Amino acid sequence: MLKSLDYVSGIKPYVPGKPVSELERELGITESVKLASNENPLGPSKKALRAIKNFISKGSEVGRYPDGGGFYLRNAIASRISNARMYFGIESIILGNGSNELLDIAVRTYMTHGDEAVMGYPSFVVYSMAVRSVGAKAIEVPLIDQRHDLKKMAEAITERTKIVFIANPNNPTGTINRKDEFKSFMKKLPQDVLLIADEAYIEYVTDRSYPDTLKYLSEGRNILTLRTFSKAYGLAGLRIGYGISKPEIINELNKIREPFNTNSLSQVAALSALLDKGHLKRSINLNNEGKRYLYKALDEIGVKYVPSETNFIYILLEKDSFTLYNAMLKEGVIIRPVGQKEIRVTVGLPEENQRFIEVFKRVLEVV
Ligand SMILES: Cc1ncc(COP(=O)(O)O)c(C=O)c1O
Repeated sequence: MLKSLDYVSGIKPYVPGKPVSELERELGITESVKLASNENPLGPSKKALRAIKNFISKGSEVGRYPDGGGFYLRNAIASRISNARMYFGIESIILGNGSNELLDIAVRTYMTHGDEAVMGYPSFVVYSMAVRSVGAKAIEVPLIDQRHDLKKMAEAITERTKIVFIANPNNPTGTINRKDEFKSFMKKLPQDVLLIADEAYIEYVTDRSYPDTLKYLSEGRNILTLRTFSKAYGLAGLRIGYGISKPEIINELNKIREPFNTNSLSQVAALSALLDKGHLKRSINLNNEGKRYLYKALDEIGVKYVPSETNFIYILLEKDSFTLYNAMLKEGVIIRPVGQKEIRVTVGLPEENQRFIEVFKRVLEVV
């Protein structure tokens, strides 16, 4: 029998949020609502869609390989993040097929069998999957008050540690670690350990005490800051994200990166999306309004939740989350069970949020 490597066979595959089309096919229903994968309910900017159409209308361009270096997009990202105090050039940016791919590339660049990576628990499940896929060990440090325990995470670093992952904001809890605690953590982070600062939800953050990882990067620290076009920019289906780091780190990552890892359509769409500040603002405002509505409704129902710096809310139940999830599925509302008694719900359009609350309230009484 063909056998995979022991450390691969032990990995549990990632379970994505159920697609709407699958649910509707299975249950023979229509108009279901997906609030399971933290997508932007407004979808992409119209300018991004127009850019894709324009690109396709040139016909033969789709038959050519993409610009493997993603020149225009990397340039635009570099100038967007540069300011009077900090300069980043194109050599500080790497594009990925989603920021997810960059996590994987970084792990393969810096880790091997027997190494360790420190991460929070619960946090984004892909970190431990990526680490275990190279035969290395994921050291999971429990969250404290639903936030990364940066003190304990620093204590968990050993001479075997190659990478520390901090999702800030964290998924699934939606919380951030503040400037002051981040500063103390950075003082303890050894120079031969890479910090992966996963900022997939940065655009939604409103807390002013949110730390600026690019500042540490410009001071020469070994950080790979990851961001994405999948969330606030609404391009999850096109798979495009980016990393910001020191040129020498980007250089190493490029040795592992597939030559054409991001496609032409995602590059043109992301470039237009980046320039469409109006759409981003509308998306953020809608999310803030949605959160206000959901907080109020959840307060009225009397369930506990964690105030969120993202586009999703972590809700703590007194009931089994999988039973609730299945009961809500039958009513056409897809949420995400993320623990025995915890669910994660993406903030949707106003009518989707209302539908969630209405079904949640009803289902909660019977499960
Ligand atoms: C914390 C975090 N990081 C990274 C990702 C990956 O995003 P993408 O690969 O779509 O850029 C996600 C997606 O859910 C996430 O929640």
